[in-house]
Amino acid sequence: MKIAIYPGTFDPITYGHLDVIERAAEIFDRVIVTVARNTIKQPLCTEEERMTMIRDAVKKYKKVSVDCFEGLLVAYAKQKKATAIVRGLRAVSDFEYEFQMALMNRKLDGAITTVFLMPHEKYTYLNSSIVREIARFGGDISEFVPPGVQKLIEKKLIKQ
Ligand code: COA
Repeated sequence: MKIAIYPGTFDPITYGHLDVIERAAEIFDRVIVTVARNTIKQPLCTEEERMTMIRDAVKKYKKVSVDCFEGLLVAYAKQKKATAIVRGLRAVSDFEYEFQMALMNRKLDGAITTVFLMPHEKYTYLNSSIVREIARFGGDISEFVPPGVQKLIEKKLIKQ
C-alpha cells in the first residue's frame, strides 16, 4: 500500500491543486490531502472551511482523503505510514523553495521521498493568493476554483 500525503495551505484549493491530486491518485494507492494548521500565512478561510472545501472537491476520488496537521511534516507523514510527499511544480520559480524543502525533509527522515508532479500548463499562473485577490476586487474566479469554493470565498469576502 503506497500512501502519499499532499500538504499545503489550500486557502483556497484551486483547479491547479486538484490537477495534482488527480495525478497523484493515479500513482499512489492512497492520497491524503492535508491542510497545514500552523504556517506563517494568515489564511482567509479557517482550517475547517479549507477542509470542507477540499472534501467537497475530491469526493469523486475514492483513494483521496482529507486531513489537517501541525508540526513537522515528516513526523505527520510517518504517523500516517506515508512514504511520499507530493508537491506541485508549476514553473521554475517554484523550484528553489521546493528543492530546499524536499532536501530538508529528506535530511529529517530519509524514508520519506518528495515527489514533484507538474499540473497542466494552463494552471502555471495560478495560486491561491491571486484567486483571493481577484475575488476581493469582484472578479470572476469560476475558471480557477470549483463552484463550492467560489461560493464560500465570495461569502467570506462580503462579510469582511
Ligand atoms: N496549483 C495552483 N496553485 C498551487 C499549486 C498548484 N498545483 N501548487 C502550489 N500552489 C500555490 C498555492 O496556492 C500557494 O499559493 P499562495 O502562496 O498564494 O497561498 C503556493 O503555491 C504554495 O503554497 P502551498 O503549496 O499551499 O504550500 P505552502 O508553502 O503554503 O505550505 C508546507 C508548505 C505546509 C507544506 C510547509 O510549510 C510545511 O511542510 N510545513 C510544516 C512544518 C515543517 O515540516 N517544516 C519543515 C519543512 S522543510
